Amino acid sequence: MHEGWQGWDDYAPFYDWENARTQGRRDVPFWQRLASNVSGVVLELGCGTGRIAMPLARIGVSLVGIDRSSEMLAHARRRVQRSPHGHQVRLVRGDIRHLPFADASFELVIAPYGILQSLLRERDLGETLEAVSRALGSGGTFGLELVADLPSWSEYERRTSLRGRRGLGARVTLIESVRQDRQKGLTFFDQEFVERRGRITRRRTFTLAFRSLSVPQMTRRLVKAGLEVTAILGDYRGGPWDRRAEAWIVLAKKAG
Ligand SMILES: C[S@@+](CC[C@H](N)C(=O)[O-])C[C@H]1O[C@@H](n2cnc3c(N)ncnc32)[C@H](O)[C@@H]1O
Repeated sequence: MHEGWQGWDDYAPFYDWENARTQGRRDVPFWQRLASNVSGVVLELGCGTGRIAMPLARIGVSLVGIDRSSEMLAHARRRVQRSPHGHQVRLVRGDIRHLPFADASFELVIAPYGILQSLLRERDLGETLEAVSRALGSGGTFGLELVADLPSWSEYERRTSLRGRRGLGARVTLIESVRQDRQKGLTFFDQEFVERRGRITRRRTFTLAFRSLSVPQMTRRLVKAGLEVTAILGDYRGGPWDRRAEAWIVLAKKAG
């Protein structure tokens, strides 16, 4: 079976290029606001290339980022080394189902941009939420964002979904297919990145899989892991949530 942590190593060289054109920095101020109220260390689950971690470091937050993909982490590491705030970020290679940190190490744990949907089985999600609960100090906050309404994404085959320039003289095309396995509640993105530089063409083909999770499902899982849900937000400015909201954000607290 395809696992949710697979595909990211191949995606890594193109992740920032694609995200600059899609998600961009829309969610960054939200995570900055949340983290700026915290004096202790913040843990980011699935920190990837540092898209969120570096802006948090820039406003003075001390952060540990954990990710299973060595290639995504290699990009983050380059950012850390280049930044004057890099000393505030520690990168750890590991799986979020088994967090390698002492209990009560963090005041805030964040799970941006659908990372919990890379956990394709109920058991994986349960283990991760329990690990998060242990890693949080009493009174600590867990903030997560789900990718909204994955099951409603229409299926398509080999659509050219992005095209543009990268660096000096390279042209990149993303050809994408979307498949739904409604029985298992999984959405698969088959991606082919084609990079042309002069006469040289390079192709990378890989699949990313995500699990559908609704906000009510997620809140039940958080309560089961011993956390108290304190807010459900529908946008990055803190507006109310409903099923059609642009963002699905849940905040929870560990009892003090
Ligand atoms: C959507 S990216 C998010 C990266 C970053 N947080 C951001 O917002 O740009 C998801 C990241 O989670 C990582 N990941 C997926 N499953 C994981 C797992 N089981 N343990 C650790 N990292 C995982 C992937 O390698 C990838 O870097």
